[in-house]
Amino acid sequence: MKYLITGANGQLGREWVQYLSALNAEIIATTSEQLDITDSDSVTKVVNEFAPDFIINCAAYTKVDLAESDFEGAMRVNRDGVKNLIDACAITESKLVHFSTDYVFSGSEEDRGTFPFGYPEDAKTDPINRYGYSKRAGEIELEKSDIDWLLIRVSWLCGSQGSNFVKTMLRLGREHGEVSVVEDQTGSPSYTFDVVEKTDQLLKQGLKGIYHISSGGEVSWADFAEAIFSEKGQKTTLHRITSDQFKTIAKRPSFSLLNKEKMIKKGLNPFDWRDGLKRLMTEMEGI
Ligand SMILES: NC(=O)c1ccc[n+]([C@@H]2O[C@H](COP(=O)([O-])OP(=O)(O)OC[C@H]3O[C@@H](n4cnc5c(N)ncnc54)[C@H](OP(=O)(O)O)[C@@H]3O)[C@@H](O)[C@H]2O)c1
Repeated sequence: MKYLITGANGQLGREWVQYLSALNAEIIATTSEQLDITDSDSVTKVVNEFAPDFIINCAAYTKVDLAESDFEGAMRVNRDGVKNLIDACAITESKLVHFSTDYVFSGSEEDRGTFPFGYPEDAKTDPINRYGYSKRAGEIELEKSDIDWLLIRVSWLCGSQGSNFVKTMLRLGREHGEVSVVEDQTGSPSYTFDVVEKTDQLLKQGLKGIYHISSGGEVSWADFAEAIFSEKGQKTTLHRITSDQFKTIAKRPSFSLLNKEKMIKKGLNPFDWRDGLKRLMTEMEGI
């Protein structure tokens, strides 16, 4: 099988490269400099030449706050870039594996009441911010298309490579000895190693459509931070604050939980978030 990975320098992209390289798969991994997915000619050329079985699209505009002022930039990558990949897949009959986010939902307290076990894949979308809107626009392009596609929604993505909450907490704790973290936003982390392994299993089953992949359980950012410091054995004072005390440019969801029933029905069991954190911390030691 041949795999083309876009956004190969990002957090998830690097995990895919590592995973597929270990399997000795035939891969072409492209960074944003090597293949800009908003450049339709380049996308067509690269995809035609390599004719991959799978395109693993890890390229995305992920600057959530910036997307509020640079909405066009976000749409160019997260919608138009996806459309370019779809068009190329239509020619080579490659399967497109794409990633999206819990931010396509409103993340409201009302939804917490409606979906106590998390948003199912077919829950009504209502993006919470402009980044979420641009990611939903990419999803719609997939849904409209006739190609073979698999869409994986993840939340709170954390891996050993790239930047994420776990690394930020450890760094802030080291630098300041204390951190302030919101306690009124809950969800569950998607660990990159888990996302890659489970997506590969879904691919091996030949599945298409939307699947949610994140870990089991539900945790607040503050409790997640506490677990990170505890797991690392790092002394850091944790101040628990509310969202009102931590203003961000783009609105953040208070409820980010994704329902995993659909993947469980395919034989894929989610890691408990604490077990996933242990594995992640072990991986980070080795870097
Ligand atoms: N991080 C999270 O917490 C989170 C949560 C939910 C969902 N997701 C989704 O999960 C996926 C992976 O996220 P991630 O955390 O791995 O993101 P990331 O670390 O920010 O990586 C994204 C990569 O895409 C590249 N890129 C940006 N514009 C591009 C373009 N026009 N053409 C080609 N490459 C381009 C970036 O390159 P440059 O750095 O050179 O721009 C970067 O290497 C994304 O679809 C994201 O929306 C992430």
